[in-house]
Amino acid sequence: MKAQIDSGRCQGHGRCYDLAPDLFGDDDEGYGTVLGDGVVPAGGEPDARLAASNCPERAIDLLEE
Ligand code: F3S
Repeated sequence: MKAQIDSGRCQGHGRCYDLAPDLFGDDDEGYGTVLGDGVVPAGGEPDARLAASNCPERAIDLLEE
């Protein structure tokens, strides 16, 4: 699984990096970023889905590989 954040939709609500700090971070303005290359490590899928489902802007896409 790979996570992406659509920067056009992200409004900086911060749920992603609060709920899944191992997967998401924030930039200088509080917008969400994926850490590293966005590949979700084994076992991290529930956190990734939790973050995606809690983003009010639906800005997080999870790509099944
Ligand atoms: Fe942005 Fe959604 Fe995270 S709006 S900061 S991707 S919770």
